[in-house]
Amino acid sequence: MANVIVVGAQFGDEGKAKVTDLLAKNADVVVRYQGGANAGHTVVVDGDTYKFHLIPSGVLYSGTMCILGPGMVIDPKAFISELGALQKRGTDDSMLKVSATAHVTMPYHMLIDAAEEDSRGDRKIGTTKRGIGPTYADKCTRVGIRMEDLLDGEVLKAKLDYLVPRKNVILERLYNLEPLDPKAIFEEYFELGNKMSKYICDTSQIIFQLIQQRKNILFEGAQGTLLDVDHGSYPYVTSSSPTAGGACIGAGVGPTYVDRVIGVSKAYMTRVGEGPFPTEQFGEVSDNLRQIGKAWAEVGVTTGRLRRVGWFDAVLGRYSVRINGLDCLAVTKLDVLDEFDEIKVCIAYRDPKTNEIHNELPSIAGSFQRMEPVYTTFAGWNRSTNECRSYNDLPVAAQRYLNFIQEQLGVPVAIVSVGQQRDQTIVIEDPIHGPKRVLTRTNSFS
Ligand code: GDP
Ligand code: IMO
Ligand code: MG
Repeated sequence: MANVIVVGAQFGDEGKAKVTDLLAKNADVVVRYQGGANAGHTVVVDGDTYKFHLIPSGVLYSGTMCILGPGMVIDPKAFISELGALQKRGTDDSMLKVSATAHVTMPYHMLIDAAEEDSRGDRKIGTTKRGIGPTYADKCTRVGIRMEDLLDGEVLKAKLDYLVPRKNVILERLYNLEPLDPKAIFEEYFELGNKMSKYICDTSQIIFQLIQQRKNILFEGAQGTLLDVDHGSYPYVTSSSPTAGGACIGAGVGPTYVDRVIGVSKAYMTRVGEGPFPTEQFGEVSDNLRQIGKAWAEVGVTTGRLRRVGWFDAVLGRYSVRINGLDCLAVTKLDVLDEFDEIKVCIAYRDPKTNEIHNELPSIAGSFQRMEPVYTTFAGWNRSTNECRSYNDLPVAAQRYLNFIQEQLGVPVAIVSVGQQRDQTIVIEDPIHGPKRVLTRTNSFS
């Protein structure tokens, strides 16, 4: 038995879905534990591209249970539209479950998210405008609507009669928007609840039973460590806990049941939205990293925004190892570096104010914003890695690059991805049953 958390080790979009899809082959259940339709997870199977926002990437394996956990925020319209598109492509929904206690993203959440963003001017966060922050805010102030409320007309009506007039004050007075009609929302969302009723249940109970039966549980993180509301680059974060600890809270599973945590990182780095990004690149390097015009160009899956790009940041990598307790790393998109003459890795930060060198992430948000990267430069390999299927197939310069990353982070690189397709994957060591994580920075492949 192995219960495994897959977590983004950077700013999101690391290729978590590709890794989840790879591991889901041997999983009995795949659980999303946080976030909502802000996620955009891509899986490519036999040339067909699937983009998931709410539904776990494991749904492509029939017979694998997929759970939208209690820590998620769910937009029922987005759920129904995503599921409908999958069903048209022949996906089976018989093993799909939605937590009764997950919170519902309502129309006012989306309107307020967008209006708040627009009003922030140059202090904007760059949210996906999917209503994520306002939904989690209502959850924390204990006025949120949960999935189970959509099934009970009386409860739903009472909640909306209380909430909508209050949200209308915000919409009308703060943002000059039209008020919403509680009755119309009630009718629409009660009907949506009706459509989703066959999926809604106590998912924590189901997961516990599966754990007792020694089934394999895979927890699919959304977003990434540096977007975590507690441990990320606050306030430029999402409103949930994408980090490994969030999986226990968001799925309703005790930490003693988790066997393994796998971090996913790109071989370089991207970020969508605002916020600090010490290794960010512009000009020719960014154009090359973005691979403009190619199928895997760095464009956000959910919003279509161009992703900011930069070199691999080992300081953030070490931070991610610490915060998540990573056992090993999956490094994706190595092939994107194939044509670079030189490749840089940030190994430390220099504070331009004090000239101090920081090997670890400064805890103060303001000082993180001004950090300058200290780089080590590698010679590129100038050869395609798309066809490599083992560590030994990789060019020596690419092997050196990966060895350096694992030495810097102190955890083994267990998986390397060299393309979007399922088979464009190198498993260096078993990511689930391989040795437990190395605590010093001396580990190397050789
Ligand atoms: P996620 O949100 O972490 O699941 O990642 P996204 O799906 O948002 O973005 C990752 C993108 O990179 C997707 O288009 C993937 O198909 C693609 N991808 C994943 N691994 C590789 C790889 O090794 N090489 C290339 N070229 N593309 C990859
Ligand atoms: P996946 O799961 C990358 C970013 C947004 C914004 C910030 C807050 O595909 O890795 P939100 O709408 O959550 O309030 O936006 O977080 N963001 C992501 N960036 N990948 C994601 O998901 C993201 N989900 C949110 O761009 O900067
Ligand atoms: Mg994504």
